Amino acid sequence: MKLILIGFGVVGQGFAEILRDKGLELQRKHNFAAQIIGVVTVSKGTLYHSSGLEIPSLLEAAAGGSFDNYPTQPGLRRDLTAGDMIGAREADALVEVSPTNLETAQPALEYCHQALDAGLHLTLANKGPVALDYANLRAKARDKGVQMRYEATVMAGTPTMHLAEDALAGCAIRSARGILNGTTNYILTQMETGMSYDDALAQAQELGYAETDPRGDVEGWDAAGKLLILGNALFGRSFALADLDVSGITKISAGDITAAKAAGQRYKLIASVTPAGGSVKATRLPLDDPLASVGGSTNAITLETDLMGDITLIGAGAGKLETGYAILSDLMAIKRTAH
Ligand code: HSE
Repeated sequence: MKLILIGFGVVGQGFAEILRDKGLELQRKHNFAAQIIGVVTVSKGTLYHSSGLEIPSLLEAAAGGSFDNYPTQPGLRRDLTAGDMIGAREADALVEVSPTNLETAQPALEYCHQALDAGLHLTLANKGPVALDYANLRAKARDKGVQMRYEATVMAGTPTMHLAEDALAGCAIRSARGILNGTTNYILTQMETGMSYDDALAQAQELGYAETDPRGDVEGWDAAGKLLILGNALFGRSFALADLDVSGITKISAGDITAAKAAGQRYKLIASVTPAGGSVKATRLPLDDPLASVGGSTNAITLETDLMGDITLIGAGAGKLETGYAILSDLMAIKRTAH
């Protein structure tokens, strides 16, 4: 599979590291081979080579902050735009891993439409396009006979979307409720051990959990974006952010956390959605609530179904390899199922 990556931050680099470290195993065990032929970034530059970029050199150049350090080789282009790369029609899939913009989803949304128009499959970690323009993207992918997958957008590589859309196909899902933001769960967990809010947030940023602008995490918008995606994918409902009741953890003080602890309770940022609407809210849970024991950057989701009752999935909600893996799992699913 030849790939174009839009963005090469935590998620793009995590995905590239997986290809570097597990490429041979993936080929041997799963007959899956991927080449990154193009990378477009705002801060590091762009690279394109139709027969594939060298992943170790790409990662080294990114670690140095600029693709200027990527070795020159015959056929290498440093001047192509995303549109040029998509238009070249040499790639099989577009991997959208640039930062999320929940207001306009741009410029990612435009690239996604261009890619589908050109007959490329699409996988995203960027939540913006899936949250804001799901119906149009889904219809276009169907028209063009290609796939759009977005496992990374909800709970990193923990197979939430694969569970809901593939494994549970045939069940109606009535609601989803859980802890859908790793950064805030990490901060709340660390604050319970006495760490300050600022130190815990700084750690979450260092560990690659937080969004490029972490206000999206702590004010609840990241979890809300995930609810829009779940609303689209599970219920075929195009909610807007304004339809959701959203608050974050910024008003939770160290004193609140201590008071909850003394009462045998724990704060969690709980996100829930049904076909009628949704909310994101810091909530005091009794310690025997299963969600109360989900700590650190771990996430959890309970899907309420008609045929299977409740199914709960607990796993990584953020992280470099954990989210990079989501991209890999989407591409492997595309390879298994595309005609
Ligand atoms: N910033 C997000 C989180 C990353 O903390 O959960 C994964 O979507």
